[in-house]
Amino acid sequence: MPLITWGPALQVGHKDIDEQHQKLIDLVNRLNDAMRAGHSKEILNDVLTQLVNYTVYHFNTEERLMAQYHYTASATHKTEHQKFIDDVSRFKKNFDLGQSTVSTEIMNFLRDWLARHIMQTDKKLAMELKKTATG
Ligand SMILES: [Fe+2]
Ligand SMILES: [Fe+2]
Repeated sequence: MPLITWGPALQVGHKDIDEQHQKLIDLVNRLNDAMRAGHSKEILNDVLTQLVNYTVYHFNTEERLMAQYHYTASATHKTEHQKFIDDVSRFKKNFDLGQSTVSTEIMNFLRDWLARHIMQTDKKLAMELKKTATG
């Protein structure tokens, strides 16, 4: 069973953002599957690296849109992104050092953060982008 299921609740109504969120959720589910299957550190590292890189790419996409549309709430939105990148990078560093591994706790953190951020912060951004786009 996937850790996160894509559905209307997670849809923000912006094509590119929704597509990227689906890809992110897919990577989180893949990491969860790899953990549950007891896969090697190499495989976990591979999925984890893809997840970190894609998260950075996705945040850049949203932040580019914020700048392009002069989004007024961009500072708080970017702060949320930065805090998440900091947390995940710290975890990745400990993982690389062999001091932590992918756990249910980590997976729940990823799931909860993503779901909350998408449903609250990203939805606000998407609504604003739609308003601006249609004038
Ligand atoms: Fe965001
Ligand atoms: Fe997002």
